[in-house]
Amino acid sequence: MKENKSYYIETFGCQMNIADSEVVAAVLYDAGYSQVQQPEAADLVLLNTCAVRDNAEQRVWNKLQHFKGLKKKHKPLKIGILGCMAQRVGNGFEQSKVVDFIAGPDSYRNLPELIKQTSSEAFASALELSRTETYEALLPRRIDQSKLSGFVSITRGCNNFCSYCIVPYTRGRERSRNPGDVLNEIDDLQQKGYKEITLLGQNVNSYHQEEDGQSTGFTGLLTSIATQFPKLRIRFTTSHPKDISDALIETIAGHSNICNHIHLPVQSGSNDVLKIMNRGYTREWYLDRIHKIKTVIPGCGLSTDVFAGFPGETEADHKASMSLMQQVKFDSAFMFRYSERPGTYAAKHLKDDVPEETKIRRLNELITLQNQLSLESNKNVTGKHFDILIEGKSKRSDKDVFGRTETNKLVIVPDNNYKPGNIIKVIIGSYTSATLFGKAI
Ligand code: SAH
Ligand code: SF4
Ligand code: F3S
Repeated sequence: MKENKSYYIETFGCQMNIADSEVVAAVLYDAGYSQVQQPEAADLVLLNTCAVRDNAEQRVWNKLQHFKGLKKKHKPLKIGILGCMAQRVGNGFEQSKVVDFIAGPDSYRNLPELIKQTSSEAFASALELSRTETYEALLPRRIDQSKLSGFVSITRGCNNFCSYCIVPYTRGRERSRNPGDVLNEIDDLQQKGYKEITLLGQNVNSYHQEEDGQSTGFTGLLTSIATQFPKLRIRFTTSHPKDISDALIETIAGHSNICNHIHLPVQSGSNDVLKIMNRGYTREWYLDRIHKIKTVIPGCGLSTDVFAGFPGETEADHKASMSLMQQVKFDSAFMFRYSERPGTYAAKHLKDDVPEETKIRRLNELITLQNQLSLESNKNVTGKHFDILIEGKSKRSDKDVFGRTETNKLVIVPDNNYKPGNIIKVIIGSYTSATLFGKAI
């Protein structure tokens, strides 16, 4: 029997969680639920959560306080926690008295059943992690209204067990989706008018699938996609430095529709730290990969993740991260301070011994440095020509629109009746560290 109820969903964390919320939307749509944009209008509120750092979890606890009030006013409201924090905190949510059910990342097919259980049980949970679930043959229902840029998961889970990271515990073992399923999903997006897709996985380079005696790796998959969808802009994230091959770099260079942008998280520039992080590469290896990218794909956009204050990080280690950033000259970076995650190798075996003030000071130094590097990177492209994909009106002025270069730089140009999805040629005139200003040519 189909339900005739409404739900509201809010997504926290990484792009993979956004893609998962689209899987959830498909499951709930099939069960008869309709999506609403206001929690006040919903019978069911879902939070798809992230557990990667403590502050990501705090955000969810704060939200729950807010929904506690709403629940008092609107008794039949049910609240469900999905995703990585559901998996990590588990039945700890039961004590909150606000949450009716939890579902981990591999349990979304069971959602309708789980929601039903909440009418007879005070708390329901589904936390089984699967070695095989890839939500095959389940076409995600697109929540993003822009219909321009879509996410396509190609792997789930992670086998790398970096010593600080919770993801292998919340998402389980790595598995790859079959290529046919991935191609179908991209075809669906193209038919719906999407202009850009981003292939997602914690480590896309380790994509691997055997089918009918034929094996496909990431380079093979990317080549098929680029060939079959010549009009789509193709992006992918995240690449792992230990697995990024020459063949992949050459494939990116060889297809004009694969965007010249690589997100390559380095985490630290110190070999001692990288070793204890279990990253599987050295500073020299990382710099060699960057050298290869810059040689084969001149002008390639480069971004990274780096964090300060890993256990045992000395001032010299921190300086090594800064000097690596300076050497590579990243266009942009996501920067964090270390947050100990219960159950990880680091939490069990390494003392979280860098004082909080030192972590904050080091993080601020990373941010200041990256701002300079981003400014320099933007300065270097003034006077240059780019194709940009228009995404919409500029937030600051409705006389302007904004779009992105294939290297992932944000460009603002005066509007000339452009529609989202148009690709226009621009020349860059001026810049800040975050934005380029151009005009059409
Ligand atoms: N799979 C990707 C990243 C996943 S998590 C990769 O391997 O790079 C996104 C980023 O969060 C990581 O790159 C790392 O920089 C950061 N991160 C992960 N665990 C963290 C922790 N315990 N404390 C601080 N930052 C962390
Ligand atoms: Fe976490 Fe490392 Fe896996 Fe990335 S590769 S998700 S940092 S364990
Ligand atoms: Fe967060 Fe889970 Fe993504 S921990 S970063 S939502 S994989």
